[in-house]
Amino acid sequence: MPMYQARGELPRKRHTQLWRDGTLLTEEVMGLRGFSGNETILYHLMTPSRILEAAGFERIRHLEWDLDDHIHRHLRTGPVEPEGDQVSGRRVLMWNDDVEIALCVPSMEMAYFYRNGEGDEVIFVHEGSGKVETIVGDLTFRQGDYIVIPRGITYRFRVSGSQRYLVFTSPGLIEIPRRYRNEYGQLLEHAPYYNRDIHPVAELKTHTERGEFQIKVRIKHGLQTYVLDYHPFDVVGWDGYVYPWTFNVEDFEPITKRVHMPPPAHQTFEGQNFVICSFCPRRLDWDPLAVPIPYAHSNLNSDEMMYYVAGSYAARKGIEAGSITLHPSGLPHAPQPGRAELSLGSTDTDELAVMCDTFHPLRLSTFAQQLDDPAYAYSWNLEPSPADRSR
Ligand SMILES: [Fe+2]
Repeated sequence: MPMYQARGELPRKRHTQLWRDGTLLTEEVMGLRGFSGNETILYHLMTPSRILEAAGFERIRHLEWDLDDHIHRHLRTGPVEPEGDQVSGRRVLMWNDDVEIALCVPSMEMAYFYRNGEGDEVIFVHEGSGKVETIVGDLTFRQGDYIVIPRGITYRFRVSGSQRYLVFTSPGLIEIPRRYRNEYGQLLEHAPYYNRDIHPVAELKTHTERGEFQIKVRIKHGLQTYVLDYHPFDVVGWDGYVYPWTFNVEDFEPITKRVHMPPPAHQTFEGQNFVICSFCPRRLDWDPLAVPIPYAHSNLNSDEMMYYVAGSYAARKGIEAGSITLHPSGLPHAPQPGRAELSLGSTDTDELAVMCDTFHPLRLSTFAQQLDDPAYAYSWNLEPSPADRSR
């Protein structure tokens, strides 16, 4: 998506012949918005429509927490035990028609290939490293990476060590914010990251193995399993703008001001009716009278989900790495008592958090219910004690 890429062998002109060992290869145009959006052109050894068997459909059903109150919430995901693989282990915390937010702490590696046929994915790597093998090449990843995988890309994870991911899935496109790009797609000087910080897939590996290969395709709110009689990574060349890439949160260049900057300064991605922001270690507001933590604010038409990754978050008491706060629409939220005073004179912060603001309400899952800290909604009542004044 960010810039033109090409890998492997390509014919000189698009839509012309490419042969391999006496076989005319199958050209596939994989594009967005009909034929008017970004696209990638791939050259396959086998026709990509070929299946050995349609081997079952599992509907994805989110179990909803039947809420009877509208309050601020705190979910503790830190103690969650590993479960499933990098796809089956995604446990949805909250969702609406625009985005689904899931925690994934896998206990095993994927034994199949996967493709999201109905949504773009952004996977924030809180812990872990490894490789995402994809149909267009391998993508190495490490802690702090956002792994951006457009719909249509077949992949599987290969990892080592413990893994913890926050996964965003959207039926709309997840893109670099428009205001960061010029008309040619280059990132502008005021943007908090640059094209050089975007790491596309490495070399293309073409597989010719035959046998039975299982692939699960997410489509129509479910997972359709197919069995192929060839390895799905049968591409000998591709070019275009639709491919996976990573961006590491350490490469985000925080934008600060003399007084407090609101979350749009931290925006990293834009989706359809939501944004994803990165709150990174940075210098704080330098006006002599500045209050360097957020002012009380009402998200009148948005829900604000914050996932705490590392560091100390000065505005919030009682949160820890893996905590999620959800400040829903229509309610003001503010630093807890004593936090503003405590922040005065601070020159920097080591907080690291990932935020998703949605412009339509989020629904919570029964999984989120299990992680709920019911005391959080009342945490603004307490007068600060001397202990509260220590970070
Ligand atoms: Fe907020």
